[in-house]
Amino acid sequence: MTTIGYEPVTPLGEDARLWPLTAHRGARGEVFVGGVGLTRVAKQCGTPTHVVDEADIRRRCHDYQRAFDGEVAYAGKAFLCRTMARWVQQEGLSLDVCSAGELAVARAAGFPAEQILLHGNAKTPQDLAAALAYRVSRIVLDSETEITRLAALVGRSPHGRRQQVLIRVTPGVDAHSHRAITTGTDDQKFGFSLASGAAEEAVARVLARPELDLVGLHCHIGSQVEQIEALERAAELMVELLARIRDTHGRTLSQLDLGGGHAVAYRDYDTGSDPAELAPRLSAAVANACATHRLPVPHLIVEPGRAISARAGVTLYRVISVKRTAAGRVFVAVDGGMSDNPRPALYGARYTIRLIGRPAPGPHQLTTVVGRHCEAGDVLAEDCLLPNDIHPGDLLAMLCTGAYHHAMSSNYNLVPRPPVIALSNGTARVLIRRETDADLLRRDVGGVF
Ligand code: LLP
Repeated sequence: MTTIGYEPVTPLGEDARLWPLTAHRGARGEVFVGGVGLTRVAKQCGTPTHVVDEADIRRRCHDYQRAFDGEVAYAGKAFLCRTMARWVQQEGLSLDVCSAGELAVARAAGFPAEQILLHGNAKTPQDLAAALAYRVSRIVLDSETEITRLAALVGRSPHGRRQQVLIRVTPGVDAHSHRAITTGTDDQKFGFSLASGAAEEAVARVLARPELDLVGLHCHIGSQVEQIEALERAAELMVELLARIRDTHGRTLSQLDLGGGHAVAYRDYDTGSDPAELAPRLSAAVANACATHRLPVPHLIVEPGRAISARAGVTLYRVISVKRTAAGRVFVAVDGGMSDNPRPALYGARYTIRLIGRPAPGPHQLTTVVGRHCEAGDVLAEDCLLPNDIHPGDLLAMLCTGAYHHAMSSNYNLVPRPPVIALSNGTARVLIRRETDADLLRRDVGGVF
């Protein structure tokens, strides 16, 4: 067993940038977010529970809006519910959706169609029809079939309007992120390759369809991109392509969407991105490339997902059991796991987990926090510094869980999904309630037709 005999790491302090913006420490190990004690939330709502700091989300939206001279579209795939859509809209952002389901939530929240973009590498005819029915402003085309399919649907639609579209380009830039979330390199499923000439062919095809109005290009090179240089390089390549389109077709496209993927710090040593640094660099990369090619600077769009919602989220887990192996490893098992957070198992994602809700002045040890699911791979975090006296009933807070946690949760082992509770101004509000056994059974119709 590794025992580290120094004072416990205080939840806020060196951790401060990993907690939601309003988090502060109270007496006896309590942590407040949005003015609400997390132990109170755990008691009233049960565990596991996702909490989200409304002020944090609003602040990140505001910072992006202020930094970027262009359009900021929140990537709803990171976390979306009606309230989140309203916060994002109230802060002046647009919304990127990637399915009819996300669009249905946006619609239910009254999100204006003119501020919605639809994405997806394999949009179904239903996704496209839903987008046309709501008249979303822009659809980002991702395959040849989609060009034909969308044009045909628009042709048959009663609205009789041309659909504005962008073309998703794969610029061949490596984001140096995890393989599963690197999307800008060739030889993967997204977009039209720049290197192979597929992107230019797609442009010609779209321009030949009177139902479609090509307004711009899009690229998204990956997620958790730490190197701004990769985003700058992609921007330059996209401007080069805009120039070639002008030279070949005499058309100057007015929009350039550079996607999202801006990195977030999950651990104290991670590099996070800052819109105040990112925005001027991306704008300068685009402006310089435009000057070189004598192009007007296009309307710039960015699509941050996790950079808006990740840090606002904390997941509360209750310790169920503690085991010490012969080899000296300490396993702390909690009441959630890969069903509410599949990211460690999928991407080797690493997190910060803290004990909250009681003082823990004694020594700390390296601990493996595992979930309740029937797989050895259900490990939430391998190297957490937790008190030696950790015991069943203790409360743990996992930080930076506001993006791709609730959104990716499942019912594996028929475990009901946790609720999402918004904390703000001393009040806790249930945004998404906890699933119940009745919810699980509702879809199990038992073969009765
Ligand atoms: N725009 C497009 C077209 C995207 O596909 C994505 C994410 C984003 C924007 C937002 O990326 P962000 O800023 O959130 O990194 N489940 C993975 C992430 C998958 C991202 C998919 N696309 C994870 O948990 O890390």
